[in-house]
Amino acid sequence: MANEAAPVLTLDGPSGSGKGTVGQILALRLGWHFLDSGAIYRCLGLLARERGVSLDDAAGLAALAAGMELRFEPLPEAPARVFLYSREVGEALRTEACAAAASQLAALPAVRRALLQVQRDFRRPPGLVADGRDMGTTVFPDATLKIFLLASPEIRAQRRYKQLKEKGFDVNLARLVGEIRERDHRDRTRATSPLRPAEDAYVLDTSELTIAQVVETVYKVLEQRLGG
Ligand code: DC
Repeated sequence: MANEAAPVLTLDGPSGSGKGTVGQILALRLGWHFLDSGAIYRCLGLLARERGVSLDDAAGLAALAAGMELRFEPLPEAPARVFLYSREVGEALRTEACAAAASQLAALPAVRRALLQVQRDFRRPPGLVADGRDMGTTVFPDATLKIFLLASPEIRAQRRYKQLKEKGFDVNLARLVGEIRERDHRDRTRATSPLRPAEDAYVLDTSELTIAQVVETVYKVLEQRLGG
């Protein structure tokens, strides 16, 4: 059962801002649960493609979302394993096609509504680190600490390029920059829960920072918040 009293640290920002990596490290260090909300949207994108549900069929997608059988199996130092209807889908979720589908269906209010409680159910003692776009603004408006991470599209594309190259994918940097800009634009301008910092968020530009520096900064602010 979800627990409204458990503390929540929200990490929002565009993809490539480092929030996923930073969030996992912080969750491990704090011994808290971790919610990768993007993976939930990506699972729905994957499922829609496989089941032939159109990405603008709001009612069909909301029905898929409401019944989606999804399970995260946390791993100590790596992204959690994700199971969709008992099938492991971690690799499939990371493709650009899946990300683009997720971004498209994430613009539909009915879909976001259907996924709201699914995400809130991750809030359990001793605490939750929640990674996404609207964790601080919509899903956990009463979070203990809200962080919004930024980085330039070029830096984010380079980070993604490195990740994909290491995995042996053939990628084009200029195309990645284009895809990132396009997805940002869609995520920022949608009417429902657009990507933007909550009014009370702590905004941190990570362009010139290492992951370790971002982790330290966020950890210190959280410690102060929890202590005070
Ligand atoms: O964080 P990510 O790249 O895995 O997210 C994939 C897409 O899902 C992203 O383009 C926007 C959408 N998303 C969202 O709208 N709200 C969230 N809380 C998380 C992701």
